[in-house]
Amino acid sequence: MNIESAGGNGELSRLFSPIKIAGLELPNRVVMAPMTRSFCGASAVPTAEVAAYYAARAAGGCGLIITEGTVVNMTDAHGYSGIPALCNDEQQAGWLQVTDAVHEAGGKIAIQLWHTGRLGHSRAMSGGQPLAPSAIAAQGLFRDFGDRETLAHDLPYEQPQAISLSQIDRVIEDFSEAAQRAVAAGFDAIELHGANGYLIHTFFNNSSNQRSDKFGGDVAGRSEFAVRLIRSVRSAIGSLPLGIRLAQHAVNDYQWVTWADQSELAICLELLKSAGIDLLHSSGYRMDAPAFADGESLVAALKRLSGLPAIGSGGITHSNTTAESFAGGVADLADPAVAERALEHGECDLIAVGRGLIANPDWADRVESGDWRSLAPFDASMLATL
Ligand SMILES: Cc1cc2nc3c(=O)[nH]c(=O)nc-3n(C[C@H](O)[C@H](O)[C@H](O)COP(=O)(O)O)c2cc1C
Repeated sequence: MNIESAGGNGELSRLFSPIKIAGLELPNRVVMAPMTRSFCGASAVPTAEVAAYYAARAAGGCGLIITEGTVVNMTDAHGYSGIPALCNDEQQAGWLQVTDAVHEAGGKIAIQLWHTGRLGHSRAMSGGQPLAPSAIAAQGLFRDFGDRETLAHDLPYEQPQAISLSQIDRVIEDFSEAAQRAVAAGFDAIELHGANGYLIHTFFNNSSNQRSDKFGGDVAGRSEFAVRLIRSVRSAIGSLPLGIRLAQHAVNDYQWVTWADQSELAICLELLKSAGIDLLHSSGYRMDAPAFADGESLVAALKRLSGLPAIGSGGITHSNTTAESFAGGVADLADPAVAERALEHGECDLIAVGRGLIANPDWADRVESGDWRSLAPFDASMLATL
């Protein structure tokens, strides 16, 4: 089998083979990566257009869709304009319309639950302020694609409030209630957004978490917030598949290192697994980029160290980085053989595709038919419409 240059479906046989994850049967290994689109208005309710957008990706052959990050309250978690939430009946009804549309199109859908933490801005919140483990502002500028003014003016990130113990309990409760609503709204799985510098991730990283209580300190202490959150969500959702997305980097700092080496990551993963996680998902600009000194990628380490199924993501058929895309660069096409190779080598079990699926709702069908060279390249102007 020639997987160096994938051209026909026979050469991508692993990508298009079925898999069962914690009881959830999927027809292939293609996952739509979670992508914020900011079309849910001030009430944070997904509309009929949002439902049609996801249904089109299901109809195009994608095995599992993960929604855009969906926040668990309208105050401190809701740090960008136009992003969806799942904390009231209207939002739940909006999401039910999305899951119905995806199921009718033959797809499966997971919701990504999110708290924007110190990367969110109070201008998008209904009366809250950013929260983080410690009162340390993120470096860089706040950019909100749902709020054009923030793109035109330099707006530094705000100094977050150091989250109190009672706020920790309340935020964990917000996640559990959102997870219960996700079950009621018909989702097939739940993913927690533990990556990219948002609230859960800032607990893992020692530059943003300088607490001296049980939620800080060593790797185990810095994992405690996620552990409690996972336990609480798990008891709220029963056996529904539960995943978490993890990253070394933050969106405001691609050089961020969260786990210094694999032994630190192993301690964290063991705790997350015991708390009830079924599935891990790496976030990075390229799936095969080295995440550790010995060159191992994050997804390979997640799978090897935990023994759990893992989703790899980054740069599958669209070659430049997301940062380059947002700066106006067109993402050129790349051979999907890298995905097949990672599956073949046992580095991951599923492959998430981001920008490729914005530009091509039928990405999966097109790639399966061997026609990846006909995919549309991605450019940031595509984010202006759904
Ligand atoms: C417009 C846009 C919005 C994104 N929003 C999210 C998000 O809400 N949650 C998340 O975990 N990742 C988010 N990401 C990252 C993607 O899930 C994915 O990791 C990234 O695009 C790299 O994959 P790609 O090279 O296939 O595009 C976003 C990416 C883009 C392009």
